[in-house]
Amino acid sequence: TELDLSPDETMRVLDEARRLKSDRSRGVQLNSLAGKAVALYFEKPSVRTRVSFTLAARELGAEVVELGSHNTKVGHGEDLEDFAMVLNGYVHALVARVFGQSTLDTLAKRATMPVINALSDERHPCQALADVMTILERFGRIDDRVITFVGEGNNVATSLALLAASLGAEVRVASPVGYALPAWALAQTEGLAGKVVPCVDPRQAAEGAHVLVTDTWVSMGREGDAAALRAAFVDYRLDEALIARARPEAIVMHCLPAVRGEEITEAVMYGPRSAIWQEAENRLHVQKALMEYL
Ligand code: CP
Repeated sequence: TELDLSPDETMRVLDEARRLKSDRSRGVQLNSLAGKAVALYFEKPSVRTRVSFTLAARELGAEVVELGSHNTKVGHGEDLEDFAMVLNGYVHALVARVFGQSTLDTLAKRATMPVINALSDERHPCQALADVMTILERFGRIDDRVITFVGEGNNVATSLALLAASLGAEVRVASPVGYALPAWALAQTEGLAGKVVPCVDPRQAAEGAHVLVTDTWVSMGREGDAAALRAAFVDYRLDEALIARARPEAIVMHCLPAVRGEEITEAVMYGPRSAIWQEAENRLHVQKALMEYL
């Protein structure tokens, strides 16, 4: 999880990510993971996470093996714990995108190598690392910044809120009643340097913010509830009126994929405040740094 790294460790990873980004832009060849192998296990679709982890490992000299429900019997013929124990003998890290957090916990229980959460129903810590890297690039610091997340208190919101608060930020999460950050996530903010403030009104939450963030109204696996979700979130959209409430230098982020016209307007997504493409690219750099660190 995002809180498995101390604030100092997180900053070390992010410093290294910045160095790796610079190296890549200058064409520097690296081999810090030469001789290593990384398994990617996906129970769900992905563009950014799959491409960025694959390239991150390969550009550092590691082998990559991609596994998933389509080419294994894991969960329907092969026991999850056995899967982890077999991989222990082959690879040096397991990157896993799963439905349930309990799947990751089971893999981690049997794994002797690091298990990296590439998204679960509860958390998306690698996305949060890329988000914080982007905020640091744009503002130079995060500790006194106000970050407003507009939308469901989902895995993306949870990881960003906890990671940014661990580094001293104020994170406001504006969600309709019934869709707020879960109580267990709020309980984990105790003792963090910053704070997480759940609220309902997105306009109030956007006042004076440095960063505005949102995510799709209909997350993966929630398609059956799409009509109810669209009705609940209709006032939770990043548009120019909402951005006008934030600071003049405020930036906009979205983990993608986005549904233009729902949680974010086209004008905002492609406008001058958007840091969305930088945020997507930074997935590559933080994941390189994280794998190196682990
Ligand atoms: N943001 C993100 O995790 O994108 P993918 O689902 O495409 O990996």
